[in-house]
Amino acid sequence: MVPDTICRHWILERDADGLAWLTLDRAESSANSLSSAVLDELEQLLADVARDLPQAVIIRSGKPSGFIAGADVKEFTTLTDRDQALTLIRRGQGILTRIEALPVPTVALIHGFCLGGGLELVLACRIRIASDDPATRLGLPEVMLGIHPGFGGTVRLIGLVGPLKGLELMLTGRALAARAARAIGLVDAVVPERHLDNAARALAAQPPKRKALPLRERLAGFPLARGLIAGQLRRMTAKKADPRHYPAPYALIDLWQRFGSNASANYAAEAASVAALITGPTSRNLVRVFTLQERLKGTGRLETPAPRTVHVIGGGTMGGDIAIWCALQGMHVTIQDLDTARLGQVVSRGQALFAKTLKERRLIEAASDRLVPDPEGNGVARADLVIEAIFENVAAKSALYRQVEPRLRPEALLATNTSSIPLEELAASLQHPERLIGLHFFNPVEKMQLVEVVTAAQTDPEIARRGAAFVLGIKRLPLPVTSSPGFLVNRILMPYLLEAVTLAEEGMPPAVIDRAATDFGMPMGPLRLADTVGLDICLSVAQILSRHFPVEVPPSLEKMVAAGCLGRKSGQGFYRHGPGAGKPPAKPTAIPSEITSRLMLRLLNEAVACWREQVAADADLLDAGVIFGTGFAPFRGGPLQHVAATGSAALLAELEALAGRHGSRFQPDPGWRQLVADEGGRP
Ligand code: NAI
Repeated sequence: MVPDTICRHWILERDADGLAWLTLDRAESSANSLSSAVLDELEQLLADVARDLPQAVIIRSGKPSGFIAGADVKEFTTLTDRDQALTLIRRGQGILTRIEALPVPTVALIHGFCLGGGLELVLACRIRIASDDPATRLGLPEVMLGIHPGFGGTVRLIGLVGPLKGLELMLTGRALAARAARAIGLVDAVVPERHLDNAARALAAQPPKRKALPLRERLAGFPLARGLIAGQLRRMTAKKADPRHYPAPYALIDLWQRFGSNASANYAAEAASVAALITGPTSRNLVRVFTLQERLKGTGRLETPAPRTVHVIGGGTMGGDIAIWCALQGMHVTIQDLDTARLGQVVSRGQALFAKTLKERRLIEAASDRLVPDPEGNGVARADLVIEAIFENVAAKSALYRQVEPRLRPEALLATNTSSIPLEELAASLQHPERLIGLHFFNPVEKMQLVEVVTAAQTDPEIARRGAAFVLGIKRLPLPVTSSPGFLVNRILMPYLLEAVTLAEEGMPPAVIDRAATDFGMPMGPLRLADTVGLDICLSVAQILSRHFPVEVPPSLEKMVAAGCLGRKSGQGFYRHGPGAGKPPAKPTAIPSEITSRLMLRLLNEAVACWREQVAADADLLDAGVIFGTGFAPFRGGPLQHVAATGSAALLAELEALAGRHGSRFQPDPGWRQLVADEGGRP
């Protein structure tokens, strides 16, 4: 085949059978995305194709990584106003309409991810063929960025698979494997990757007949049914996404309810809706969260190979789960504990997680083989990385390091999972203090994405980089932080939790306190979180922080722990748990605004202190840490972004007023004055 036209991103080739092959291989990028430049070229090539019509047009990717990952998210941030966004979206719609209007068969060949704008492009083709590779995933995850499909995808997907399936895919953002996509009619054929080209030739010559939609999908499209279903979808969506904070899914339901399958009116409305969403605060902040996530991943990218053989010492709650997670992610793990019964528990916990996640017997067995109980600690001498997760006790940890260090390989990393002991104190027992880092995992390891990578002045930066690469290698997000008490996440979270305890002590019902936080956008209220983490753990972190910072430990917390009220694990904390829990308390309706201020301003005040002290290198990394470490309202873009959006002067004034009423724990950190000055206000 001779290339007809080679552009920067696309190649157009015409073969002897009269087929035109359009291959996307975006320049200077490992994955394909639909940037404006990619769309510009596509538009020109489509004009070429239309001038000299082939027998069929086949669109495919030149990248081994996948088809198209979606729109170019970086370009979203350059959109300054709604009109500009509208022009861009209408243009994209226009290009896809050109594909749809070609009077010859159009075939999309999908191998690897096919997401967002990539799937919208595929939907504009007449025939879709996917490879049966497990990496092939089709989805429209736009809601996660605070928008919905805008290149005609809302109309075409519903037209192809029906409103029930189509809306479900767009509202959840879930991606489908090739066979699941074929089952709902999203793709026409699934073949092994090596047969894709032949399948394209065959189906282009004899396009498959479109099957009629199932009856329930057809019925759902009638105007009367639409109203009922839209109401139901709104109620279901409200359980997951607060309409005040996350408008996109509701905009999508509205569009469908208003326009159904009236395509031309719908395209215009779809574009207007996305233009409004994409320039609104929620989408801007969700895009920010996405780019922050990419930045965290960047901190773990390395030229040299990351550690692959791991030895974990301490098989309790954390060490056990860390070892299991590492084995699940392909690491070779040995796990050591003084108590052999603990090792047995780790193995059975591991079995359960492997079975739940991996499903296939071969994979489950391979993961189990990678998790080896090692009571003698023989793995120390072989490991690239040793992670210590024994009791939170300086003397015990130091004694252990003295035994372990002489047996380490010269290039091995030594990491501690301590949640509160400064690295400097632990490093004092080492011959080579430069090789010690903190890898602070959060509980439960299986769910919490963030791992703080802690360094002190003496730490070798290369060791820290390798630690971050390891974290990325086990599909976790590394956040570099300095060795300050509580590091970043616990330090910022704790004053907010303690304020909630104080409010409860004053007689405010826990459900009201928690509701104030979830209304603000926190994923769980602070008292429910305290119950989940364990009140004893909260108390111990609070006591450690109170030695370094003006943190008062509320007496009621000490009393509860002394009385054995530890939260979920003891059945009683701020709430009752387990079989005797009864019904959850009724949702409170009126939340006094001072509750929200007291909770959130303590969190924000501590965030400002950490920013001033550079516990994380800059404001963006700090926001990333708090979002991924605590679930802080993603639509607000992080605590410091929230301070900037609300105005630091106004928040500072509120803090000062609270300090007047409630005392020194609300004393504004000196960092606020700097923020106000930076914003151009008067300090
Ligand atoms: P845990 O009490 O559940 O487990 C500690 C384990 O270490 C026990 O199984 C014990 O037998 C073993 N152990 C003690 N000394 C040992 C030694 N010399 N050699 C081998 N094994 C030994 O403790 P947990 O909660 O897992 O905490 C471990 C570390 O992780 C602590 O430093 C803690 O601060 C930190 N951490 C705890 C979190 C949590 O939520 N529990 C969260 C993040 C960090």
